[in-house]
This record gives sequence, structure tokens and C-alpha cells, in this order.
Amino acid sequence: MAVTYAFDVYGTLVNTSIIQEALVHLVGDNAPLLMDAWRSKQLEYSFRRGLMNRHIDFSVCTRQALIYCCQYYNIILTEAEENRIMEAYQALPVFPEVPEVLRNLKEKNIPFYAFSNGSSSAVKQLLKQASILDQFTGIVSTEAVQNFKPSPLVYQHFLEVTNTSLPNACLVSGNSFDILGAKSAGLKTVWIKRNAHQFFDPWGTAPDRVINSLAELQGFSDLELG
Ligand code: 2OP
Repeated sequence: MAVTYAFDVYGTLVNTSIIQEALVHLVGDNAPLLMDAWRSKQLEYSFRRGLMNRHIDFSVCTRQALIYCCQYYNIILTEAEENRIMEAYQALPVFPEVPEVLRNLKEKNIPFYAFSNGSSSAVKQLLKQASILDQFTGIVSTEAVQNFKPSPLVYQHFLEVTNTSLPNACLVSGNSFDILGAKSAGLKTVWIKRNAHQFFDPWGTAPDRVINSLAELQGFSDLELG
């Protein structure tokens, strides 16, 4: 079976927790709390907009979630600070094992795509500054169907634009909402659990594989998944 991988981006290929450093300047030791609240609100905004059929560039969800969280926690956020933090979002580092894993997949001619809520231009810029853009077979953004994960429309769009049939499509993501959405749409799923305080939703549905580093992916890129 020739696997085609869909790699989630934020929190899977790139490390969003680095944004905490940009937040320390704002809130000191509360940066981890603000980071978690911001990520939850960012995703909540994308879920709400998907349900409302009111898609907008994911970076707007990110920016508006930051503004909301600062208001909620009574943090003064100047426009300059807001822009500085948003710029940090465009320069996130990849996790250490990512470049080598992508090189190995490319050497084996295994097709793999960056698959994200982020706009094509934002993802392209992010992967280019991380020096891994050229490795990918392509980029698939959910903006093309004016929706967000975990809408079934976005996984269907991935299958169509990459010309992949269901048994061969595999989503790799650190986000359990994404895994559950992909599994519901019929894709194979690999959840990457990078740290002890990452939990999978108790929905009675499990990923096909759980790994702690993308380096473990080598083990079954040629094997039957699931
Ligand atoms: C993505 O990159 C939000 O991590 C999610 O689509």
C-alpha cells in the first residue's frame, strides 16, 4: 500500500510552545497559562466559524483569540506587542526530528503534504523560513473549501486534490480533534504525543498509531496501517 501522508502543521511539524517566550515579555510566569488559553480560543474560533459557515483566514482567528485572552486576563496589549507576537507565529521552529524524517520520506518517494487550517501563503512562509518547504509534495490548506478542521469537507478536499484513495491516506497530527475528524472521514491516523500532558479525547475512538516522535514514523511508512 502506498501511503500518502497529510502532516498537520501547528503543534505537529512546528513547535507553537515557543510562542511562550514572546508572551513572557507580556505576562512573565503566566506565559504557559496564556499560551494554553490562546490556543484553545484560537481553535474555538475556527470551530465556531466552521459551524457558522463564516470562514476567515486562520491568522485572524489567531489574532482575535490573542486579543480576547488579553482582555479576559486584563493584560494590556499594545498594537506593537500584538504585531510582535503575531510575527513570532510566522517564524515558529520545526521540532528537531522533522527535517531528517522528511528527507527520508522524500528519498523513499513517499508523497507527503503539509495539511493545515493555515492559509497556503502562511504555511508556505512558515515552512520556507524553517527550510523544509522544498521537501513537501505540496501544501493543502483548508481555505480552499472555506472551512476548518475537523469538518469532513477538509479531509475530502485533501483526498481530492492529492488524488489519494481512502485506504492510502494517513493523517499525522498532534491534535486529537484533528485525528478524530480524519478518522471520522475514513483516513488512517497517527497521533503524535510529544509530552505527558497531552491527552486524547475520551470519545471511545483511538488513533491507528500513537508515536512520541515523527522519527517513529519510519517504522511503518511501508507497512499496512491500522
Ligand atoms: C493546523 O495546522 C490548527 O494545527 C492545526 O491545521
